[in-house]
Amino acid sequence: MAHDWTIGGAVNDLTKEFTEAGLDTPRLDARILVGAAGNLEPSLLFARADRALSAEEATTVRAFAARRLKHEPVSRILGHREFWGLDFKLNAATLDPRPDTETLVSAALARKAQYPGPRRILDLGTGTGCILLAILSEWPEATGLGIDRAPQAVEGATDNAARLGLTPRAAFREGNWCDGLEERFDLIVSNPPYIALGEAAALSPDVVRFDPHPALFGGEDGLEAYRALIPAAKPRLQEGGLLLLEIGATQAEGVESLLVAAGFAPESRVFDLGGKTRVVTARFG
Ligand SMILES: C[S@@+](CC[C@H](N)C(=O)[O-])C[C@H]1O[C@@H](n2cnc3c(N)ncnc32)[C@H](O)[C@@H]1O
Repeated sequence: MAHDWTIGGAVNDLTKEFTEAGLDTPRLDARILVGAAGNLEPSLLFARADRALSAEEATTVRAFAARRLKHEPVSRILGHREFWGLDFKLNAATLDPRPDTETLVSAALARKAQYPGPRRILDLGTGTGCILLAILSEWPEATGLGIDRAPQAVEGATDNAARLGLTPRAAFREGNWCDGLEERFDLIVSNPPYIALGEAAALSPDVVRFDPHPALFGGEDGLEAYRALIPAAKPRLQEGGLLLLEIGATQAEGVESLLVAAGFAPESRVFDLGGKTRVVTARFG
């Protein structure tokens, strides 16, 4: 009976179902989903383990579990994701921001002292707006523009900026990379789609079923977006400006070749916490 189902019992039942289904982090997922359904902070789950779920809460737990068993990520079920300590709402057109992308935020913020005073930042393929908004949250003198081809992503990023109180310094616009832009920026950041089409079969169902494919795939070799956006970004950089690109773990040489061909001087490679090359930077002028 639903009203006899306790918080602790629900966590255990979901953990068992998720384990049997082969999910990667069954207990963690169970705790987060039961906590959300019961409106409890995860830290309070143990203290409230004997509390019975209301009928409504039990229905919500069941519905969340059914979605997770179809491989929908917890962040999509709950509709938001923490990135750089900030809360971002997701929608069907936005990539679920990845912790590795914090490497790009960190690399951009490491340049703050080199770019004193008011500065302009362009984020190409902004999705939720997570990169630009995370940078602006720690760079008060900077303002920025985020571009995405997906109108629903632009809506989501605009909403996230408002929720984070960053609207006055962040604008978002629909567009194809730099088409139609005339302004020059001090920093251009981008995490473009970079998975090769041939790798689709190896992706987890959590990713391939729920992240929007235009946010994932970069053509046959994964480099298609870089081929378009690198030459497009060059005339949009100020003299002495910096381009910072997130890349796939094996793409540093390929992307640096494209940078050189477009007249950039590759400057550094930045590693993520797993030791993989995650960001390349290049200077113009
Ligand atoms: C890998 S996702 C990155 C999203 C977000 N910046 C993040 O790091 O979570 C790539 C984004 O590029 C956008 N995109 C793909 N092709 C584009 C294009 N030609 N012009 C502008 N945006 C594009 C996708 O819609 C998607 O939001």
